[in-house]
Amino acid sequence: MPMKGIILAGGRATRLYPVTKVTSKQLLPIYNKPMIYYPLSTLMEAGIRDILIISTPHDLPLIEELLGSGENLGINLMYKEQINPNGLAEAFIIAEEFIGTSPCSLILGDNLFFGSGNFKKTIKQAADIKNGAEIFAYKVDKPESYGVVEFDDSYEVLSIEEKPTYPKSNHAVTGLYFYDNDVIEIAKSIAPSDRGELEITDVNSCYLEQKKLYVSLLGTGTAWLDTGTHDSLIEASSFVRTIENRQGTPIGSPEAIAFENKWIDHNSISELLESYAYDNSYRELLLKILNN
Ligand code: G1P
Repeated sequence: MPMKGIILAGGRATRLYPVTKVTSKQLLPIYNKPMIYYPLSTLMEAGIRDILIISTPHDLPLIEELLGSGENLGINLMYKEQINPNGLAEAFIIAEEFIGTSPCSLILGDNLFFGSGNFKKTIKQAADIKNGAEIFAYKVDKPESYGVVEFDDSYEVLSIEEKPTYPKSNHAVTGLYFYDNDVIEIAKSIAPSDRGELEITDVNSCYLEQKKLYVSLLGTGTAWLDTGTHDSLIEASSFVRTIENRQGTPIGSPEAIAFENKWIDHNSISELLESYAYDNSYRELLLKILNN
């Protein structure tokens, strides 16, 4: 059964106030695209075509207005509200009907990945998971803002802790997760944490206890970018701008990936580009791949 995908674009992003006071963080620009284009592209790169977007009652209609049914990208997009910020793991309970009996992945709406062929291969393989869970760890300088994985000498996972005051390693858990169908029951079985949320780290710890958690290390050839602060937003935008301008290839572009995956043809992407102004540089970038 093909893997389904969830993008969780919730939260109030108070660290970005006043920028996010009236708008969704996931709609803020990262250089030339709304932030949510990047996680959407990652799921599409993994080969996932059935995607549920979960957001707040306030932001969901705006995201739906932006992305629509997904038909023009050759994918199927659905939308569901998370009424209260009850934690990341609540996504699997909200999505129960959508997931059905399939395996399911989750990506956070503010997580940006950029990787070479290796990263794409890794996520494609993860999207084929039949049993257990696969998550990704990335070495960061300040791990205390994330889930943190502790490994032994042979890189066996010993523990995962959510935002520990004294992190046991520098390996942060990224916001991209692949699970078998048990994830729904596991999400239902965990209790809210001290901050009143169903933590994704508790879901991962359950898989770890069952010896069914696989943690892949993302190397330095992959970029995992933070978008949580005003500075990191600018840094992410500069990163995308630098690579796109240098290589002439779009990063985090659902249109480009749909075309590469052959989910849409030349005519459909040309039609899509008709809606952009002629002097729009994002449109020009996309035209380059069309003409190659
Ligand atoms: C969430 C997870 C954390 C993970 C992070 C990745 O934290 O709880 O384990 O490392 O996403 O972005 P948040 O930043 O949403 O509080």
